[in-house]
Amino acid sequence: NCGEVLTGKHVLITAGPTQEPLDPVRYISNHSSGKMGFAVAEAAVNAGAEVTLVAGPVSLATPKGCKRIDVVTADEMLTACTQSASKADIFISTAAVADYKAVNVADNKIKKSDDELTLTFIKNPDILATISQRKDRPFCVGFAAESQNVEDYARSKLAKKNLDMIAANNITADGLGFNSDKNALHVIWNGGDKKLPATSKRELAHQLISLIATRFSSTLQ
Ligand code: PMT
Repeated sequence: NCGEVLTGKHVLITAGPTQEPLDPVRYISNHSSGKMGFAVAEAAVNAGAEVTLVAGPVSLATPKGCKRIDVVTADEMLTACTQSASKADIFISTAAVADYKAVNVADNKIKKSDDELTLTFIKNPDILATISQRKDRPFCVGFAAESQNVEDYARSKLAKKNLDMIAANNITADGLGFNSDKNALHVIWNGGDKKLPATSKRELAHQLISLIATRFSSTLQ
């Protein structure tokens, strides 16, 4: 285990994709499997934390010892996180939240008619930014899945979303990132950074939790 470095702490984690409905049978989403977030939840439990895992639609078993809340849309994920945020010491946002949702969800199945179909989308709420703006905010850790200028974009998200740490995830590397069993992260905070090289998501989550626990305890001193 991680030496029980998070004993007595409450950790809130989001994982997986969100699905945004278009009509009763269709949705837009992404390739997140939830594996990274579930591994982080397992590592946090092993470090002694009380863990709430807010999961989008994924087909994974709940890590032992976590409280799991299942959601589908970004709006539902925001509600679940808002309800759990005040008791959280640390918030880790691994979810790949859909940036947009349909302005109108059709009541009935959209029929095939014209050759082109136009749908209008509106921005979803930013769950991480909403939590990090709270007065009683937990220690906030974001992820950034990027395919170019990885470090620059991650640093700008760290500042813009008012985060304590961000884990940059280069998703162009073969066999890493979305829906694979391995990953690599570049973790960045104000005043430092650490590269966690490619390994299983399970091992990586263990290293990430150790790093988060160290940074978190330094903010308490
Ligand atoms: O689930 P897996 O298959 O294991 O894949 C893991 C992963 C690649 C999804 C994960 O490691 C990862 O990188 N997650 C972040 C995905 C992402 O695209 O993040 P983003 O750059 O859109 O958002 C930045 C941060 O803000 C993230 O912490 C995200 O959770 C959060 N966010 C984003 C949008 C939004 N509306 N609400 C949010 O909370």
